[in-house]
Amino acid sequence: MRIDILTLFPEMFESPLKYSILKRAQEQGIVAIVLTNIRDFATDRYRKVDDKPYGGGAGMVMMPGPAFDCFEYVEKLAPSRGRVVLLTPQGERFTQAKARELSQQERLILIAGRYEGFDERIRTGLNAEQISVGDYVLNGGELAAMIVVDAVVRLLPGALGDEDSAKDDSFSHGLLEYPQYTRPEVFRDMKVPEILLSGDHKKIAEWRRRQALERTRQQRPDLLEGDDLTTENE
Ligand code: 6GU
Repeated sequence: MRIDILTLFPEMFESPLKYSILKRAQEQGIVAIVLTNIRDFATDRYRKVDDKPYGGGAGMVMMPGPAFDCFEYVEKLAPSRGRVVLLTPQGERFTQAKARELSQQERLILIAGRYEGFDERIRTGLNAEQISVGDYVLNGGELAAMIVVDAVVRLLPGALGDEDSAKDDSFSHGLLEYPQYTRPEVFRDMKVPEILLSGDHKKIAEWRRRQALERTRQQRPDLLEGDDLTTENE
């Protein structure tokens, strides 16, 4: 997969891309992540990329010119257009299902906005879909783009090494994960549940399923709504 990220702050991405899974996935050629600075496509001598909103109001709006020129340059760097995603709090909420859908693509072009928003013609002119990472406001789309990259890349074949681990993730089967324990058996008077030491794999699987269900009911009942998992597993 190739992921292009258009941003005014490419440096913000450097550290997150340099560690662990994201680092290894790039080294192994599973994903190529290319950062392009929208400001490099500004045309005036101040390298201006934002301006006051027509009609008045607070804040600045990202101008269409540099974003369009940047996009048209980036688009030509690889054969397929893939999916074009604008990161904005006005977008559709990002979910595991969306991450899985995006992970099927050969290419993604992510555009991170800054300031109070984009000139609307960026969205309509580029025919971009919009994604938000949650119901809160960030200072820009960069962190949101990183979240999307992180969630998508770990789903790419080979990215995790252990092929089973993504399947077991919270959300992948509609439930939160069951509790995990490792050594020592007793830590500060807190014991590992006896069943996990029993070696009875069937009982362990049942216990984990029940725990996952109970946790989901407690922490995220919204995930169970309209879901027959509840009755199926009782
Ligand atoms: Cl994608 N951008 C900004 N600025 N804020 C957000 C967001 C995106 N998603 C949630 N909040």
